[in-house]
Amino acid sequence: MLAERAAEAVECCRFLAGCTETAGATTRTFLSPPMRDVHAHLTAWMTRLGMTVSVDAAGNIRGRHRGSAPDAPTLFIGSHLDTVPNAGAFDGILGVAMAIALVDLLSGRRFPFAIEVVGFSEEEGVRFGVPFIGSRALAGTLDAALLGRVDAHGASVGDAISQFGLDPRAVPAAAVTGAAIGFVEFHIEQGPVLDSLDLPLGIVDVIVGSRRLDVVFTGAANHAGTTPMSARRDALAGAAEWILAVERLARDTEGLVATVGEIAAHPGAVNVIAGTCRTSLDVRHPDDAIRGSAADALLERAHEIGSRRGLRVDVEPRLDQPSTVMDSALVAQLEHAVARCHQQVHRMPSGAGHDAMIMAGRMPAAMLFLRSPGGVSHHPDEDVRVDDVAAALAVGHRFLDDLERGRAWST
Ligand code: GLV
Ligand code: MN
Ligand code: MN
Repeated sequence: MLAERAAEAVECCRFLAGCTETAGATTRTFLSPPMRDVHAHLTAWMTRLGMTVSVDAAGNIRGRHRGSAPDAPTLFIGSHLDTVPNAGAFDGILGVAMAIALVDLLSGRRFPFAIEVVGFSEEEGVRFGVPFIGSRALAGTLDAALLGRVDAHGASVGDAISQFGLDPRAVPAAAVTGAAIGFVEFHIEQGPVLDSLDLPLGIVDVIVGSRRLDVVFTGAANHAGTTPMSARRDALAGAAEWILAVERLARDTEGLVATVGEIAAHPGAVNVIAGTCRTSLDVRHPDDAIRGSAADALLERAHEIGSRRGLRVDVEPRLDQPSTVMDSALVAQLEHAVARCHQQVHRMPSGAGHDAMIMAGRMPAAMLFLRSPGGVSHHPDEDVRVDDVAAALAVGHRFLDDLERGRAWST
C-alpha cells in the first residue's frame, strides 16, 4: 500500500507539472489559469476519498477528512501549488500530494481530530514579488497592503482573486478560527545535505529567515556610440559592480547566502546606455542579526557605488522574514515517528523559506524533508525517490497514530 500510494503521489506531481503557463516548461504563478486544472485534479482525488473540498478566497484548496466528532480540533497538512519560472515537478506540490496520499492510506479511519489538507495558492513570491499569499490567508495576516500589491501588468492580488472567480472581500474568512493542533509540511529538501549523508529524511528544526529588496539604479540613457566613457552615468554598469560586491560579501561571511536573481535594464537596447537598472536582492542567514547587518552593508555599498558613478539608488523593501523555529513538541513527535519507522533521526535547518514559517505564527508547525537527489531544486531536473516518499508516508502514518494515542482529546 505504502509503495503504491508513494508512486501515486509522485505520478500526480509529474502529471500536474504539465499544468503550466509556458509550453514546454513548468511555470505556475498565483491563480494563473493552469491552477484551475490543478484544483480540478486534486478535487477529484480528494472527493474520491470522501473528503469535503473547497477553495477559499485566497485560492487555497482545502480538503477535510473529518474527525470522529464534529467539534474535533484540526491537524493541517500541506504545502504550496505555485512554482518558480521553469520549475521542477516537486517543490511544494509533493507535500500536497503526499498529504492526500496519507489520507488515502487511512482507508476512512477517523481520528479524534480532523485532518485538513491544504494546497496553498502561493508561496514563491513570483507574481507579486512577495511570498506566502496562501498561508498568510490561513494565518490571518493577508492584509490590505498585500491585497493591493500589483503584478507586472498592474493587476493587484485582489484583482487576481476576482479574475479567478473568487471574492477578495472574503479573504478574512479563510483564516483558521477553530482549534488547531498544528501544521505539518512534507517538502523536498531542495539542497544537497540528505543526499550527501545518504539519508532519505530530515526533520527541520529551524527555517532560515530572508530579507528581500528591489534595488534600482538610475543614471542617464544616452547614445552608445557618441557618449564618451568619461561622461556616462551607466545604471547597468553600476548594478554590475554592486552585484559582484553582493557575491563577495556572501562568500566572505560564514553561513550567509545572497542572490541577485532578477535584473532589468532600460530602455534595453544594444546601442543605448542603460538609464535605469532594476535588481532584486535576497539575503539569508540563520542568525537574523547577521542577516540584517549584511543586508544593510550591501545597501550602503549600493549607495557608495551610486554616488561614485553619479547614479541615484532607490531601495524598495519586499520581505523581512525572521528565522522561524519549529515547534519543539511536534519536532520531537516527528523524530519519534522517524525512529519508530527505523530511519535515522537527522535534524537540520532549512535554507529555503516555507509556508510552515507563516503557519507557525498561528499554530505549532513542523516539517519533514525528503532527500533531493543531486541537491537540485528550482530547476526542471528537481527529483524525488519513490522509496523516500514511501518512507515519509510511513512516518506520517506513525505520526498520526502517536498523535491519537499521546494526547487527551476533549471531543
Ligand atoms: C522558496 O522557495 C524560497 O525561495 O525559499
Ligand atoms: Mn517550496
Ligand atoms: Mn520554491
